[in-house]
Amino acid sequence: MAARLSDPRPVPADALAPPPAPAAQPAPLLQVDGVSIDYRTPQRVVRATHRVGFDVHAADRFVLLGASGCGKSTLLKSIAGFIPPSEGEIRLAGRAVTRPGPDRVVVFQEFDQLPPWKTVRENVMFPLLASRTAGRREAAERAALYLDKVGLAKFADAHPHQLSGGMKQRVAIARALAMQPQVLLMDEPFAALDALTRRRMQEELLGLWDEFRFTLIFVTHSIEEALVVGNRIAILSPHPGRLRAEVNSHQFGLHSLGGAEFQATAQRIHRLLFDEPADGGIPAVPGSVAADAQALSPDRRGGAPFIRPAGSPPFQIAV
Ligand SMILES: Nc1ncnc2c1ncn2[C@@H]1O[C@H](COP(=O)(O)OP(=O)(O)OP(=O)(O)O)[C@@H](O)[C@H]1O
Ligand SMILES: [Mg+2]
Repeated sequence: MAARLSDPRPVPADALAPPPAPAAQPAPLLQVDGVSIDYRTPQRVVRATHRVGFDVHAADRFVLLGASGCGKSTLLKSIAGFIPPSEGEIRLAGRAVTRPGPDRVVVFQEFDQLPPWKTVRENVMFPLLASRTAGRREAAERAALYLDKVGLAKFADAHPHQLSGGMKQRVAIARALAMQPQVLLMDEPFAALDALTRRRMQEELLGLWDEFRFTLIFVTHSIEEALVVGNRIAILSPHPGRLRAEVNSHQFGLHSLGGAEFQATAQRIHRLLFDEPADGGIPAVPGSVAADAQALSPDRRGGAPFIRPAGSPPFQIAV
């Protein structure tokens, strides 16, 4: 026994340590948890979204895709803190969202979101100053940096009416990024642009994301734009919006446009959105469990493990 106690062999430092814990999944930055949103008018109550739930992780480019009227803008406004959910909860970094804040900034579709009496530089500085996120000097520095990043350094003293639609959207993006928000919310920001400018703006947005790795929630009703911009796509069913499925789209970008895999995925999403059967059979009632099952059945996915039904555990499969 004594020999054992005085055993001169060194004990490895980690021999007595507890076994390492399994690698923990980082907590989601944003949680949308069973969120229904209703509009109450004197005549009736309009349900815009019904029990929608998803998690967004830091540096995700998360797309909300759905037909007109399915509640995409409503959901975005609720995440921004403008509309409270009727049921469920939205949490940012674990805390319930109850009001707007400088940690969430929205870029809208409309070109008139910039006050016309302010110069481009003043437009970018204004939210920083108004929210007391930065003092004058820092706000000016950030404005210069982000206007340069969107290629508008030379237009800092121009007024919005002197800019094209694409340039105005670039100012809105610079203004949003200058706030360095925890989540950048974009509601169809390129929908009113011509096709060429829209394509260039998508490219620039992805370039900015490569550089700053912000967390993006991007609303669109273009399947192609969703696949190009997003790394994850939440597909919403028609009015009232319910989460139909989630698609992992990280492998697609502008380089994949026109490719066979891109086209096939776009077609599968199209069927999910519009409940079209792949085989010409009769579609189930939109929004029903039968429709979900039909839309997600293996033969309709072509066997590719890229879609998970809403409500199942977080999507992990990379294809
Ligand atoms: N202020 C409001 N009062 C009453 N109903 C509203 C209001 N705003 C939106 N709605 C209704 O809520 C539903 C969702 O509207 P929302 O604007 O969120 O849809 P959307 O998916 O963004 O559509 P689009 O793609 O056309 O922008 C629609 O049925 C709409 O009529
Ligand atoms: Mg909308």
